[in-house]
Amino acid sequence: MERKKTIGICGGGQLARMSAYQAYKLGFDIAILEKEKNSPAGQICKNEFVGWVNDEETVKKFAAVSDVISLENEFVDFKRLEFIESLGKKVVPSSKVISLIQDKYIQKKTLAKKKIPTTRFLEIIAGDSYESVSQQLGGKFILKSRKMGYDGYGNALVKDAKSFNSGMEKLKSRQSDVYAEQFIDFKMELAAMVSRTKKETKIYPVVHTIQENHICKIVIAPAQLHKRLIKLAEEISIAAVEAVGGYGIYGIELFLTYDDKILVNEMAPRPHNSGHYTIEACKTSQFENHIRSIMNLPLGSTEMSAPFAVMINLLGKKNGNGILHNYNKVLLNENVHLHIYGKEKSRPGRKMGHITLLGENLNLILSQARRIEKQIII
Ligand SMILES: Nc1ncnc2c1ncn2[C@@H]1O[C@H](COP(=O)(O)OP(=O)(O)OP(=O)(O)O)[C@@H](O)[C@H]1O
Ligand SMILES: [Mg+2]
Repeated sequence: MERKKTIGICGGGQLARMSAYQAYKLGFDIAILEKEKNSPAGQICKNEFVGWVNDEETVKKFAAVSDVISLENEFVDFKRLEFIESLGKKVVPSSKVISLIQDKYIQKKTLAKKKIPTTRFLEIIAGDSYESVSQQLGGKFILKSRKMGYDGYGNALVKDAKSFNSGMEKLKSRQSDVYAEQFIDFKMELAAMVSRTKKETKIYPVVHTIQENHICKIVIAPAQLHKRLIKLAEEISIAAVEAVGGYGIYGIELFLTYDDKILVNEMAPRPHNSGHYTIEACKTSQFENHIRSIMNLPLGSTEMSAPFAVMINLLGKKNGNGILHNYNKVLLNENVHLHIYGKEKSRPGRKMGHITLLGENLNLILSQARRIEKQIII
């Protein structure tokens, strides 16, 4: 008997949760593999597997109920994905794509090889010093963990020998090799989501992202830039996905420099924080196109259905239980779209939810969104 198709997701955080809503909408089931029970996505799915990718028995059970497997982050060692593929399961994005992305140094090399503009970079090897690196990258540069960096945790800004040494010390504890990247004094950070199947490629509007303390805080859609620059950003984003041979959905983070160059900062092979606004502001959300692309279905329109959208992340402001107490106040503005991820613990800086406002007057929705964000203590 034919059974409903199930999409397995390695990871059970907010990206998996929002993808799951869209999978159910289309009539598919979801299976979640996560280290702990009751993850944001695990809570809403009946197929919850507790364990991680190195636990072969659990992975086999997870793979057995899944028709296709996807990921919510790029941190799953590509060799573990090869194992899942060896069980005869399709993985999107594939182990090959992840092998080109999860090590940021290899990612940069892959992009550079295809002549995609990116920041200058350099492998850090034993014996390197502030002098040896600054000779090639300039006096100010960033040390980055090659693997497992997120929300800036794997980065260290260097401007002299002292910060080089302390940066190396800080990153050493992350058990990953390190590379260095030229510091970009950017005018603006941009991002774009690209959805790609074997049959088609669609790009969402290029957005302006504002990070505070290395974490994405605000997204403005669409970015207020000259058409020529938007087109360039779109071309570079699509080329980046093609460079890794990627299918599924990708978030491309970009720098716009003062001399109007666009450089790729990094790419993520999954739904991305800069695309959360698409849930309400685009004809098809990034999460729905994520599911469609995994299932190799026709992609939905990526056009906006409102002139402007503003998304603000709700970062934890205290150590708590992740429960919002003033829904009545927050939802008083009838245009606010509130998302709370259901995490069982909040801590300062942790992504606990987001809000999106749509409208015709960008400055108005931006100030309203900022005001509402201040009211949310979670
Ligand atoms: N080469 C650079 N020059 C200037 N600023 C940079 C550079 N690389 C990173 N940054 C700043 O630090 C932020 C986080 O860096 P990056 O994207 O490498 O880290 P991440 O830990 O993967 O972050 P996230 O998970 O938020 O994407 C960037 O969005 C940007 O604001
Ligand atoms: Mg980033």
